[in-house]
Amino acid sequence: MFKDKEIEKLIKAEQKRQADGLEMIPSENHTSEQVLAAMGTRLSDKYSEGYPGMRYYGGCEVVDKVENLARDRAKELFGVTHANVQPHSGSPANQAIYYALVDPGDTVMGMSLYFGGHMTHGLKVNFSGTYYNSVQYTTDKEGFMDYEAIYELAQEHKPKLIMSGTTAYPRIIDWKKMREIADSVGAFLAADISHISGLVVSGDHPSPAGIVDVIMTTTHKTLRGPRGAMILANGNPSNPLKKPERTVENIPSLIDRAVIPGLQGGPHNHQTAAIAVALGEALTPDFKKYGNQVAKNAKVLSEELTKLGFNLVTGGTDNHLMVVDLNNKNISGKEGERALGLAGITVNKNTIPFDPRSPFDPSGIRLGTPALTTRGMKQKEMKQVAQWINMAVENNKDEKKLAQLHAEITAFTKDFPLPS
Ligand SMILES: Cc1ncc(COP(=O)(O)O)c(C=O)c1O
Repeated sequence: MFKDKEIEKLIKAEQKRQADGLEMIPSENHTSEQVLAAMGTRLSDKYSEGYPGMRYYGGCEVVDKVENLARDRAKELFGVTHANVQPHSGSPANQAIYYALVDPGDTVMGMSLYFGGHMTHGLKVNFSGTYYNSVQYTTDKEGFMDYEAIYELAQEHKPKLIMSGTTAYPRIIDWKKMREIADSVGAFLAADISHISGLVVSGDHPSPAGIVDVIMTTTHKTLRGPRGAMILANGNPSNPLKKPERTVENIPSLIDRAVIPGLQGGPHNHQTAAIAVALGEALTPDFKKYGNQVAKNAKVLSEELTKLGFNLVTGGTDNHLMVVDLNNKNISGKEGERALGLAGITVNKNTIPFDPRSPFDPSGIRLGTPALTTRGMKQKEMKQVAQWINMAVENNKDEKKLAQLHAEITAFTKDFPLPS
């Protein structure tokens, strides 16, 4: 395949690592071969700063069509009138939302990373907590979003922008409650649905469309596309040469101007094509079934883990992920991640609400079902996966036992190949 044997070896090693184990990091997935094929094309060679019909480069007639296709599919899928499909990934897309809607020094509010939010929602060491006056909301003791507390915090600090959306939260987000909070202080409301966008498409999580002012989603998580992101809104962009006022109606123009020339240069056209392919797949009835199965699998896995004595933050899940508090198992999140990794189960260490331990070695792990569901696993397999997780945690110091488990899991995965 490759003339560069060094990189070929590494690519094959990574493919084997994924195929021989269980990828349970909930922000990951396995894309279709069609999505992968679109990524490896000559579209990658093309510069096309600007937007379809308004480029700073010649030769954009084909990539204009690619980008329009991706935009149209995104609009249809999420029921909005405007889509920007150019952000290179989720963090730069969130940066564009801030750049569009607030000024440095303005107050912004988002969920703390340590309680399930994303670092771009106001973490002190992130741009969002450095350039803006960031106020962070948390959860209640059990890990549920506490809308009354968020309301009180908003009254106290009067943010101009509220980020809603999460990275490690296993429950449904009440967009209407977030809307009421934003309206009570006249703030813009953004929904970051990066984790749950596939479940929004399948109807397993309510959509924020029509409730919030602007939506951001990465394309590579439950949506099962290539790495990338989209910003969605209602309304239409106005004259691109005129600076728009900061109003809700102008959000499409504000976002487009924030992405380019505000923050980025040329879009990644190969990535845009692959996003279009993924969105085409997400528009099919099969994708709806996929999302339904992701949620069903997560439910069964959470119930089985609970039966095995694991403590789940909030006591379970409504979506594709769960956060497991390992304190009663007498190992840390870091040790859990390591032991499960040796057994061939890839998860990530994660803080639990009000974590007594440090974020570098927190109390929990975060795991989810999107990638396993893509491989065709269902409820029956989730029961088996729960047993393996339990065995790996119970035998976390026994390297031989963990290697045995890995061999068992590798044999099992042969019936569930990566997409082809
Ligand atoms: C809620 C949320 N927003 C934004 C991002 C950032 O996306 P990226 O890693 O593509 O920059 C993530 C990634 O995990 C996320 O979970």
